[in-house]
Amino acid sequence: MNQDQLKLAVAQAALDYIAPKLAANSVLGIGTGSTANFFIDGLAALKSQFKSAVASSEASAKRLRGHGILVQDLNDTNGLDLYIDGADETNANLELIKGGGAALTREKIVAAAAKEFVCIADESKQVETLGQFPLPVEVIPMAREYVARELSRLGGTPIYREGVITDNGGLILDVEGLSITAPCELERQINQITGVITNGLFALRPADILLLGTASGVKTLK
Ligand code: A5P
Repeated sequence: MNQDQLKLAVAQAALDYIAPKLAANSVLGIGTGSTANFFIDGLAALKSQFKSAVASSEASAKRLRGHGILVQDLNDTNGLDLYIDGADETNANLELIKGGGAALTREKIVAAAAKEFVCIADESKQVETLGQFPLPVEVIPMAREYVARELSRLGGTPIYREGVITDNGGLILDVEGLSITAPCELERQINQITGVITNGLFALRPADILLLGTASGVKTLK
């Protein structure tokens, strides 16, 4: 199986996982990226079985609407029943790096508001220690170089993702060279740097369940 086939398989596994949990008033948080796109396309067939979706990016909102799925503002809901999204890296504790698609801040908000976070990923995303994938950090534009210097002090090498402006008007620094052995501590530490909007570590709020696409089938990790 190639990577796209693995992504499609985990998207289908997520649809099978959530289908029995859906109710007429269910509001779903929906992620961003190529794996989430497979999920959104499959979700169209279930659209009569839930109320609406809250998207973690404008791109996903557009795709959801294209399938006739009602997209709501998070502020108009009472929280989310489920959040389904991909990841750039995951470890055995279901702590993640996200933000390769620059949607990390809205993803973190959606994750925080959701009762259950279902992560879908192919096996190339599984690592022993987070940090091989450069850690995305969203920053207020005027703080870009200040935050970069502070991130260097933490031992990483921040690279400005030129040409990218997030849905929130922020910029992205991708921090290379981190070996993240204490993800919760680093997540807190980076978020305390003035000018940081958020960082792509999902350790304080990890996934609740990981559906991992492997050559021998989809594995469920909790
Ligand atoms: C978006 O900002 C990211 O957090 C995505 O969830 C992540 O990049 C996974 O993307 P793919 O499913 O395209 O690999």
